[in-house]
Amino acid sequence: MYCGLNKRVLKSIKLCRYKILWFVLIYFLLFIAAILNVASNHKSIQQNLAHKTLSYELDDGITDEAKKYIEELGLKNPGENGEAVIIPETASDEIKRLMNDSFEEKAFNAFISNMVSLNRNIPDWRNDICKNKIYHKNLPKCSVMITVHNEDWMLLMRTIHSVLLRSPSELLEEILIIDDASVKEWLHKQLDDFVSKQSKVRLIRSPKRLGIINARNLGSSNAIGPIIINLDSHVEVSPGWLEPLLDRFVDDNKKFVGARISGITRETLALKFKDDLPYYVGGVQWDLSFSWETFEPLKTATLIGPTHAISKDFFMELGMYDPEYGTWGGEDMELSIKVWLCGGTVEQIPCSRTAHMYKKHKYTHPDKDYRWNTNRIAEIWLDEYKRFYYRAIQNSHHDFGNITERIEIKNKNKCKPFKWFLDNVYNIRIPDDIKDP
Ligand SMILES: *[C@@H]1O[C@H](CO)[C@@H](O)[C@H](O)[C@H]1NC(C)=O
Ligand SMILES: *[C@@H]1O[C@H](CO)[C@@H](O)[C@H](O)[C@H]1NC(C)=O
Repeated sequence: MYCGLNKRVLKSIKLCRYKILWFVLIYFLLFIAAILNVASNHKSIQQNLAHKTLSYELDDGITDEAKKYIEELGLKNPGENGEAVIIPETASDEIKRLMNDSFEEKAFNAFISNMVSLNRNIPDWRNDICKNKIYHKNLPKCSVMITVHNEDWMLLMRTIHSVLLRSPSELLEEILIIDDASVKEWLHKQLDDFVSKQSKVRLIRSPKRLGIINARNLGSSNAIGPIIINLDSHVEVSPGWLEPLLDRFVDDNKKFVGARISGITRETLALKFKDDLPYYVGGVQWDLSFSWETFEPLKTATLIGPTHAISKDFFMELGMYDPEYGTWGGEDMELSIKVWLCGGTVEQIPCSRTAHMYKKHKYTHPDKDYRWNTNRIAEIWLDEYKRFYYRAIQNSHHDFGNITERIEIKNKNKCKPFKWFLDNVYNIRIPDDIKDP
């Protein structure tokens, strides 16, 4: 049967008409399907816009001076879409000197950062598995806490803007900035003015330097949202970052969960989301065949600091971070061990993605140092296994202060002995040089 001019078979003309009708019908159906598809895309675009109306007053933050350099260098929307900002070789000596100076002063290329919009677009680089995940309808609200000590203005603002731009308004109770006795002038009136114009941003200040650990404790006591998300002050969050974190708290409050952290290059402000390999662990299917697991929440022994979430109630029950800690270091180790031993779970969430800038600082410990903090972990949590810890640090340092109150909290919460962590969570390898004789 074909549809040509065949006069010998008149019947076939009739059939030919039917065939054309069929074609018309099929095309019509395809057309309807296409319209529906466009409509659903349109809906998701509208949802994105809904996020954006919240930050209608957010401007790009680029000063006139920086705009002048953008023009002089012939740059177009530098840093847009997370691209590296490349300064041409032909740039003037003045510009090269300014870049060097900013690196000296701020441990990253602040000259370049000043030219990158606070509202720069970040493409949705998530894997389709993450994009298509369906999260609970009623997610808990969160307080995003950002602790600040003398942070660069544009880095801090880009952190805040990225949260405002990429968090569904109904899930974001507040952004709570905790200023830890900053002395830089831009963190005084300029910051007050910004906060006064933002309905979702709140600021509390500590007049005395607390260190990041106690500053986060202070913020936690003041947070309004049931979930606390700690964010470093030089981070950018990517589309869809928030829902996968909050989703973990719907059925189980005793969680400590971390986002997947990529880099912000300190030399060029490039976002490194694209370059990261997925996490691979072996999974299993119901036919008992092997599979690679890459995007499901993964149990992890410990987490690090740039982006993590915990429920406020659970954090309070656990006595927050140990307030006797020095400025920084070891706090997330303490919290991870404590969460596991006191009935909770620690998880890495591959679908929640943020980027963090590692600056070139040599961080200082003004008072009690990092070892003081880890000694306290060993004394409070490691039981008889602390002997391996002291051997591993060559018995260099034994001060740890008073731990009476922390032991009381441990007992009150009926936390398990450290042996349970070794048997059930992570069996820390014992190298030959610290083995029992
Ligand atoms: C910037 O610093 C580098 C070394 O860090 C030096 O080689 C270069 O000459 C400096 N440029 C200017 C313009 O000061
Ligand atoms: C340690 O702290 C507890 C309560 O926090 C206190 O009762 C005790 O006297 C302290 N011990 C020393 C030796 O200071």
